[in-house]
Amino acid sequence: MIKCGSFLIALLLCPTLYLCSAGDTLSVTCDGNSQQTYFKVNTKYYFIWHTNVSWFNAIHICRRLGGDLALIESASEMQSISNYLISQGYGNTWLWTSGNDLVQNRKFLSVTSGMPLPYTEWSGGQPDNAGGNEHCVHLWLRNNSFRMNDWICSSPAQVLCQSQNHSRCIDDYN
Ligand SMILES: *[C@@H]1O[C@H](CO)[C@@H](O)[C@H](O)[C@H]1NC(C)=O
Ligand SMILES: *[C@@H]1O[C@H](CO)[C@@H](O)[C@H](O)[C@H]1NC(C)=O
Ligand SMILES: *[C@@H]1O[C@H](CO)[C@@H](O)[C@H](O)[C@H]1NC(C)=O
Repeated sequence: MIKCGSFLIALLLCPTLYLCSAGDTLSVTCDGNSQQTYFKVNTKYYFIWHTNVSWFNAIHICRRLGGDLALIESASEMQSISNYLISQGYGNTWLWTSGNDLVQNRKFLSVTSGMPLPYTEWSGGQPDNAGGNEHCVHLWLRNNSFRMNDWICSSPAQVLCQSQNHSRCIDDYN
């Protein structure tokens, strides 16, 4: 749950900052948009967009609110997110992540990092590219854990966004 006390103190202490860290939550304000609260799971901050949208729409929603589609980078992140989603009652929810093979069939890249997915945990029999039209990766609950599945990108699902990784690039001005 959100720690309201520390969140309010953080708002008072840093009203003009773009990012304010408040313990287990992160508050992000983007131009023209209201503040978005992210929650911490393992080492990253996330939020869930609770309306069904296509994967294409999901990319823009995350970015508009200071995030990117989630990139799951390790077994420990996968398990932490799975535990969190189960504990919060998301058992029937499907959630878009950054994985896709839109550029080259069966080569799954992350639209968040631009790189091949560093870690995959597919549910049994996946990815199956059913109907030859499943090119975007979402999470669903199978065998008591959230795992990955390929699905039709224009299909409706909720969205798992992570806060932007400002340290992924180094600006080197010479
Ligand atoms: C569930 O687990 C069983 C046994 O390991 C496996 O055969 C099956 O493929 C799994 N199903 C899914 C949907 O992951
Ligand atoms: C949202 O999409 C899921 C499939 O991801 C579907 O099961 C559910 O009924 C949809 N919910 C609404 C409110 O459209
Ligand atoms: C974020 O940046 C760190 C350090 O550069 C890197 O190890 C990590 O893979 C990046 N994560 C994403 C999602 O780009």
